[in-house]
Amino acid sequence: MVELALPKNSRIHKGKTWNKPEGNVEAEWRKFEIYRWSPEAGENPSIDTYYVNLNECGPMVLDALFKIKNEIDPTLAFRRSCREGICGSCAMNIDGTNTLACTLAIKDVSGPVRIYPLPHMEVAKDLVPDLTHFFAQHRSIEPWLKTESPPPETEWLQSREDRQQLDGLYECILCACCTTSCPSYWWNGERYLGPAALLQARRWVVDSRDEATGERLDNLEDPFRLYRCHTIMNCAQVCPKGLNPAKAIAELKKLMVERQA
Ligand code: SF4
Ligand code: SF4
Ligand code: FES
Repeated sequence: MVELALPKNSRIHKGKTWNKPEGNVEAEWRKFEIYRWSPEAGENPSIDTYYVNLNECGPMVLDALFKIKNEIDPTLAFRRSCREGICGSCAMNIDGTNTLACTLAIKDVSGPVRIYPLPHMEVAKDLVPDLTHFFAQHRSIEPWLKTESPPPETEWLQSREDRQQLDGLYECILCACCTTSCPSYWWNGERYLGPAALLQARRWVVDSRDEATGERLDNLEDPFRLYRCHTIMNCAQVCPKGLNPAKAIAELKKLMVERQA
């Protein structure tokens, strides 16, 4: 039998406990266990422990991260911007699920709140994944309107029905929760585009104003770029916007078959 062993430098060590709860009997302490790794330190990753008094903290996991960074440990790194589920920056793995820290309430996590960066991505520092490849893949599907007809005098018009075809697709905030939860992407991420990029590919293929459908489908005609999806459905389960990338991928595959008929 083949034995698999993790490389020594990938093993996660127990880290530091920053602040033990004390004194304040009114406090409602909650334990946070957070992945730490810094490229400068040259050490293995660790899990650091922090305690936050929920009576003095906002309700969301992102509020607790701010509380920790502002009052306990300013070296903790994480991304955020909008703090209301729109920018996708604060995507991370919380309590075993990829999600947005700004829309997950602390009270909805039971036990210690365990926070890791999005899985199977290079880590830049702590909870910040390197999304360079993810965004390069998004760019590779050419996510913009492509037309050959002469431009109209005003805007490109769309019927109400055609516009509705974009529902369930245009809402994607490119948080990468789906792509980094996809087992096919974990093993073939260099060549398989993954659910987020493919959902966007579907969004442009279905846009009634776009005139590059054939070219877009040609771009996906490859054993890896599209066909590594095995309908495992992790993507649809984790999407914080309630989208269904697996369905979008299935529709792309159907179009591929139809155009060969
Ligand atoms: S489909 Fe959902 S999970 Fe995937 S990138 Fe878009 S918003 Fe995030
Ligand atoms: S349905 Fe496809 S894209 Fe979604 S998680 Fe499964 S393999 Fe990945
Ligand atoms: S901070 Fe923008 S989605 Fe969470």
